[in-house]
Order: sequence, then C-alpha cells, then structure tokens
Amino acid sequence: MKALILVGGFGTRLRPLTLSFPKPLVDFANKPMILHQHSCEVLLHYYESPMKVCSPFQLNQLFVRYFLDVILILLQHCQIEALKDVGVTEVILAINYRPEVMISFLEDFEDKLGIKITCSQETEPLGTAGPLALARDKLIDGSGEPFFVLNSDVISEYPFAELIQFHKSHGGKATIMVTKVDEPSKYGVVVMDEGSGRVDKFVEKPKVFVGNKINAGIYLLDPSVLDRIELRPTSIEKEVFPNIAAEKQLYAMVLPGFWMDIGQPKDYITGLRLYLDSLRKKASTKLAAGSHIVGNVLIHENAVIGEGCLIGPDVAVGPGCVIESGVRLSSCTVMRGVRIKKHACVSSSIIGWHSTVGQWARIENMTILGEDVHISDEVYSNGGVVLPHKEIKSSILKPEIVM
Ligand code: GDD
Ligand code: MG
Repeated sequence: MKALILVGGFGTRLRPLTLSFPKPLVDFANKPMILHQHSCEVLLHYYESPMKVCSPFQLNQLFVRYFLDVILILLQHCQIEALKDVGVTEVILAINYRPEVMISFLEDFEDKLGIKITCSQETEPLGTAGPLALARDKLIDGSGEPFFVLNSDVISEYPFAELIQFHKSHGGKATIMVTKVDEPSKYGVVVMDEGSGRVDKFVEKPKVFVGNKINAGIYLLDPSVLDRIELRPTSIEKEVFPNIAAEKQLYAMVLPGFWMDIGQPKDYITGLRLYLDSLRKKASTKLAAGSHIVGNVLIHENAVIGEGCLIGPDVAVGPGCVIESGVRLSSCTVMRGVRIKKHACVSSSIIGWHSTVGQWARIENMTILGEDVHISDEVYSNGGVVLPHKEIKSSILKPEIVM
C-alpha cells in the first residue's frame, strides 16, 4: 500500500503565526524528539547560518519557522510509523517549498523507520487535491489497493487497520475519518448516516451550522478517485468530496481517541495533557512514578532527578537532563541536555536543548527558551521568548522576545 502526506508549505502554516506556536512541541516532543535527535540537529544547522546574518525581525521569523519545521518532522514521524505498521511500503511527501530541507530528512526517516519515502514537489501550490494528480504514477501500483492521504498538520491516534477494514466492508470509493469538535465552522463538516457511515453531505468551512462532525484529514481512497482530479490547483474538500458524497460513494468513520489540528493555537494548551493522558491509558508504564511525581510525567531514562523535587503534572523531561534538588516542574517540556539548578521553578514553559536555568529562578507563563540559553540565578521570566545562545542576567517581567 502507498500513502501520500500533504505537507504543503509555509503559506498555509504561518497563518496563525503567534508565539504560542511552539507549544505543540511540548505536546508531542518527548518520545519523537528522542527518536529524532539527528533530524532536529540537521535542521538547526540549516537555520543557524541564516540566523547569524539576518535582521532581528527576520531572526524572530526564522526561529518560529524552525519550531514549525521541528513540529512537522515530529508529526510526520508519528504518521509514517503508524502507516508502516499497517503494511504501507512507500510514503510520498507532497511538498511545495524548500525541498532541500525535507530531502535531508528523508534518508534519516527511511533508515530509522525502514520504509521508502519519496518527495513529490510542486512548482506551484496545487492545493489539497492537485498533489494527488501530480503523484498519480507513484500512487497507482497496479494492485488496485486503496491508498492513504493525510494532512500533515493534525495529531491524533491513527487507527489505520480499522480504517482499512471499514473501507473494504462498505464498498464505496473513499473513506474519511471524522471527529467531533466544538467549532465546526473552521473545518470540513460531514453529515452522515450514523448506522452505515455513508456521507450525505460534505461542506468545507460552512457559514451556517450543518453538524459537528468534521473531516479529520485522514483518508483512504480507491485509485479510481484519481480519475476525478485534474493536474491544477484544486481542493479535495471543495471539488472532490462533495461530488463523491453526492454519488453516495463517500463514507466516514468516527475516529476514536484524541485529535488536534495544530493550526489552532488554543488547542496547544491542552496538547501535552491529551497526549500524556492517552499514554496513561495505553502504556502507563512509560510514565514516571514515585512520591515526587504528580499526574502524568514522562522522564527519559538518562535524565537525573535530584532529591526533594516535585514534578508534574504534564511534564516531559528529555535525555541527559539534570534536574537538581528541590526543583519544581509543572506543565512544561525540558529538552535534551538541560540543567535546572537547585530550587528553580518552571511552569507552562519550554526549555530548549542544552539550556540552563539558575538556582531559585522562576520560569513561567509560556516562557520559551531556545537552544543553549542560560538563565542566571534568581532570575524571573514571565513569558519571555529567548532566542538561541543567549545569557539572561536580569528578569523578564512581561511576555516579550529577547534577541
Ligand atoms: N502539497 C501541498 N500543496 N499541500 C498543501 C497545499 C498545497 O498547495 N495546501 C495545503 N496543503 C496541506 C497542508 O499543509 C495541510 O497538511 C493540508 O494540506 C490541509 O491544508 P490546511 O491549509 O491546513 O487546511 P485546513 O486546516 O484549513 O483544513 C483542512 O484540514 C481540516 C482538519 O484539520 C481540511 O481538510 C478540512 O476539511 C479539515 O477539517
Ligand atoms: Mg490545517
């Protein structure tokens, strides 16, 4: 089986360009980050030289982009892993920007996951359907098997085996996964028959309420669907799904478990909690336990935790970290190689690779420290966003970017 991931470009992704954007890194970082150290390092090297020569404004943009790229890599890692588990042999990444960055990851992905990964590069953005026409020859392998299509910016559980089973059982041409949300108007809304799963109507970003079940961005399509798609910029949600639904050939399966579109900043806040919650249900032995742990906490086996710390809830501590005695951590990610010194307190924040937080320091309110940032003893940071390789000697009293 084949799969195509709609990776797209920054045009769509930069839309909610806010400083809370790095948040999903917290949510899904710990496990994939460990698996993906090398990719992240490659990526950082790519960004380092332009960071040295650009203006402060560009620097900020680059920093955010860097985080966005890391997030994408992590997501694709999870998606590709799950696809491989159900027998997908080749994943095609549909991209329309800077392929050199993506390409440098392909080998890494291929080696680690043992799956063939290729790029299909657009010369102009082809939307969400055009890339399928562009990759047509790659997707059709003569077997007549359906293929997967995934949006790259959603995080969820991936019950692909159930999706295949359902698709084969109903005999329609396409199956999409759906999930319930509170604000359906920002998504593709599906009206379906609950019993059979048949979709009566697919409305992208409806202006009036039609229902609260929305397209989760995960599809299984028969090769015949490709015959409906022309090689031009076109939207699968506006031009393809409504037609297949009208012919009663579109089916939907409700996605069990959590789902998030990382294009929605407010969802990030709940991200780490959701992820760790699902880990608690599925593999609770991976979570830390002990009298110093509160709620769901993920600590890498190489991390060192001192005496008298209180950690949690919703904390991820990466490999090689040293958390000295008496430290308090809650709702935060501490990335690889970080040292948090005695009696420091970190909450609702991200501490980037190889940074240090001084004794008695207090880091809170969505503070984000880039790589190799050093916070002096007793410093307070209230929502500071600190770019890589900085030393912070005085407190940051209100949310601001420190370059
Ligand atoms: N290759 C390529 N080329 N990919 C693209 C392009 C393009 O021109 N445009 C968008 N994409 C990718 C995006 O990167 C993303 O992974 C996916 O296609 C969907 O595009 P978004 O721009 O993120 O769409 P959305 O979030 O507004 O809506 C989509 O996702 C919702 C779920 O998150 C739709 O599929 C909705 O129906 C759905 O509910
Ligand atoms: Mg999206």
